[in-house]
Amino acid sequence: MSQPCVSSIIGTGSYMPEKVLTNDDLSKIVDTSDEWITTRTGIKERRIAADDQATSDLASEAARRAMANAGVTAEEIDLIVCATVTPDMFFPSTACIVQRKIGAGRAVCFDISAACSGFVYALQVARHFLNAGTRQTALVIGAEKLSSLVNWQDRNTCVLFGDGAGAVVIRATDAADAPGRVLSTVMGSDGNLVDLLKVPGGGSACPVTPQNIDQRLNTVHMEGRETFKHAVTRMSAAAEEALKLAGLTKDDISLVIPHQANARIITAIADRLGLPEEKTFMNLHKYGNTSAATIPVALDEAHHEGRLKPGDVVLLVAFGGGFTWAASVLRW
Ligand code: ACO
Repeated sequence: MSQPCVSSIIGTGSYMPEKVLTNDDLSKIVDTSDEWITTRTGIKERRIAADDQATSDLASEAARRAMANAGVTAEEIDLIVCATVTPDMFFPSTACIVQRKIGAGRAVCFDISAACSGFVYALQVARHFLNAGTRQTALVIGAEKLSSLVNWQDRNTCVLFGDGAGAVVIRATDAADAPGRVLSTVMGSDGNLVDLLKVPGGGSACPVTPQNIDQRLNTVHMEGRETFKHAVTRMSAAAEEALKLAGLTKDDISLVIPHQANARIITAIADRLGLPEEKTFMNLHKYGNTSAATIPVALDEAHHEGRLKPGDVVLLVAFGGGFTWAASVLRW
């Protein structure tokens, strides 16, 4: 290939664990109700990985499905970027563990930590490698086992999250009109707001001790209302910026695939963009917030449900801990 300059999504895949945890199940664990969770979040149920399933297991299955969908073999993969905040362990990276599990011996592998924006960040990082011509075929994965990071006694957070994984295969191409190509991406971060959404314990700042485990410092802590406001503002602005960068307008959008955290956040963004319900993808009623996995899982479902037609403009938009945010425009 002469001068590759475009990255194109050539396959999608996802894997959701079998076990379903409904709102009614949760109401037996904490003081909550199906009515509260449904009206405040839109979530009805979420998937919970088995005890012997790590994030890399979910990621590997999503990756295999994406490779099968793309018609590529593991040997063809020369880059694996895995977005996750629930890695199997601090190191090695989950991407390296996935490499071993799927047999992608030629790949360079590393993880991205950008919470719920992780997949769009990872897509952009991989795209830079491909567009520069230094790698040809990449697996970009968003995978989480958030059930391992949730305080199951905190009703403010435990009702929100779930486990799952999604992946895409992207390939460098010199065909400027290749289907599935990434047209534009914008990203942002605001580290001044780290304290609004975090897992305070377990890292080098607050290593695991019996005392901080007692205080549940190794679990998700979130200022829900503040996070909500920032999510709406940042995602709306990022969406508009990415569209502008692609030389498109809101009227060109065929489908928005937003991070699936809360149906009210998604509706607020759709309202700001002036988009009708049918142009906004939602599956959080089934899965809750799976952080870095929400967008690739939703993209895979939209793909297999036939909601993505050749030439469609698809907008991915995410927001998460950091805070971080990102949006990407694709031409399907
Ligand atoms: N069941 C019943 N009552 C509850 C529950 C529950 N599960 N959780 C909270 N409540 C109570 C609260 O205690 C509070 O009671 P009080 O008024 O007596 O104090 C009341 O419900 C209202 O709480 P709010 O926090 O005001 O509820 P809100 O309408 O803001 O909804 C929610 C909370 C769903 C968390 C919302 O703020 C939200 O979605 N925030 C954004 C989450 C998000 O976008 N995260 C993004 C990224 S996640 C990541 O990066 C890992």
